[in-house]
Amino acid sequence: MNDDFPQQLAALETPAVVVDLDRLDRNLARAADYAANHGLALRPHVKTHKAPIVAAAQLRLGACGLTCATPREAEVMAEVSDDILVAYPPIGAARARRLAALPSGVQLRIALDSEDAAREMARAARDAKREVAVLVELDLGMHRVGTSTVDAGVAVARRVSESEGLRFDGIAFYPGHVREPVGEQDAQLRELDVALSRAIERFHDAGLPPRVVSGGSTPTLWRTHELPGVTEIRPGTYVYNDRGTLATGACDWDDCALTVLATVVSTAVPGQAVIDAGTKALGREPVRGEAGEGFAQLLEHPEVLVSRMSEEHGILDLSRTTWRPSLGETVRIVPNHVCIVTHLNDVAFGVRGERVERRWSIAARGREKPL
Ligand SMILES: Cc1ncc(COP(=O)(O)O)c(C=O)c1O
Repeated sequence: MNDDFPQQLAALETPAVVVDLDRLDRNLARAADYAANHGLALRPHVKTHKAPIVAAAQLRLGACGLTCATPREAEVMAEVSDDILVAYPPIGAARARRLAALPSGVQLRIALDSEDAAREMARAARDAKREVAVLVELDLGMHRVGTSTVDAGVAVARRVSESEGLRFDGIAFYPGHVREPVGEQDAQLRELDVALSRAIERFHDAGLPPRVVSGGSTPTLWRTHELPGVTEIRPGTYVYNDRGTLATGACDWDDCALTVLATVVSTAVPGQAVIDAGTKALGREPVRGEAGEGFAQLLEHPEVLVSRMSEEHGILDLSRTTWRPSLGETVRIVPNHVCIVTHLNDVAFGVRGERVERRWSIAARGREKPL
């Protein structure tokens, strides 16, 4: 990528995705240390940053590989990692074929929850003359994907182990239903522990011992060691954090590494100011579980929320502040859900203080390689 970009934050054209590199470094190191200290493999989910440069930093700090959701993410991340888990059901011949077409040097693992998906993936693997490893996804409470009984999971695992082109490696689950504040997760973690231990035992009894037990999220990240069956964690949001992470207490305000830099473009209507970041820069995500709390929050003036949005307009509610912005003033905004913000933007700028140190392509955004 060429290096011709403004060196000062104030000179960036807005809206712009800005990453505080000190905060990013700290977030990456903290999770890497946690995983190392607890003997857990860290396989970060790239959906949050979608950028090879951040993935490479995660791998340098000891990540065992990467987790992806989309074929595009997997293709882009194959440039920096030879060990990729696609944690998304490979249903649809086109999706399975595209995954099987990843470079042959990549150890590809897929999480799936049905015999149909196993059949689809096995066909694609055989056609591509490669072996694809499989984790069988169990629903341990989120009720999104995953077999709803362990026996159904064992049946899928058996089918996988008998399929040419596939190799059964273990089980996966996603504790996305645990959104309580970190200090109030005891009951849910105990429930998860019981369910997971039973599942692992059942797979052993069936002669299909899971070598890998893959779980983890950002809200539960710092308590994963309370689930002793887990061997691998897949947090994604922890790299940047956001208002959703803050709401769970899994990070502090100072750990929010990604903001959207925006400019005040209108103060014409009393009681509010309008910035040039609307839904096309910020997304329109509620803070999960807390409706009516705005769409984003100002870094320098946390009492100010983005209360309404159009596509290119964000409305700052000034009713709870004495701050009165002037036209042309720039602000930095902490989004509700940071993964949506990266998905909506092409480029991120890495800053330390006021200095723009580098910029990078959010290369794995979208579905296809740009034409
Ligand atoms: C399957 C899977 N694994 C891991 C993650 C990462 O979780 P978090 O966003 O809480 O870091 C996600 C997030 O959507 C996910 O869907």
